[in-house]
Amino acid sequence: MKVMVLSGANLGRLGLREPAVYGSRSYGDLVAACRELATELGLEVDCRQTDDEATMLRWLHEAADVDAAVVLNPGAWSHYSYALRDAATQVQGPLVEVHLSQTHAREAFRHHSVISAVAVGTITGLGFDSYLLALRAIAARVRLAAP
Ligand code: DQA
Repeated sequence: MKVMVLSGANLGRLGLREPAVYGSRSYGDLVAACRELATELGLEVDCRQTDDEATMLRWLHEAADVDAAVVLNPGAWSHYSYALRDAATQVQGPLVEVHLSQTHAREAFRHHSVISAVAVGTITGLGFDSYLLALRAIAARVRLAAP
């Protein structure tokens, strides 16, 4: 099963960006952790990050076209991008929304995600484990769906 692990705006700055909120490990460390677990779970992961919303829309269209599962951290787009939501709706893969930080304990504008309603699940506040648990959830669903 192919899983696209898509991270949005500013997530390439992990390790440098607000370490008290996002931790001291880098985006490269996150990719390494996802790849290691994917190998263990027998998933094929493709990890990508962009600060460009149009690029993220294209990647979601690609996921829909190739029937990939998606782990999506939309970053700040979570809170207002209806375009991203419309693209996420097309993914049948399934799509799991993740956040590193506990968005519900932060500023009010972070408490609502326009993506959550079209994700099969949302994992928030567990740092790298948010991504890793999403991969485990996808692996479990794939196994359940297998004949
Ligand atoms: C985030 C939370 C968002 O509110 C924020 O804009 C981000 C990262 C997270 O992973 O905690 O960029 O999605």
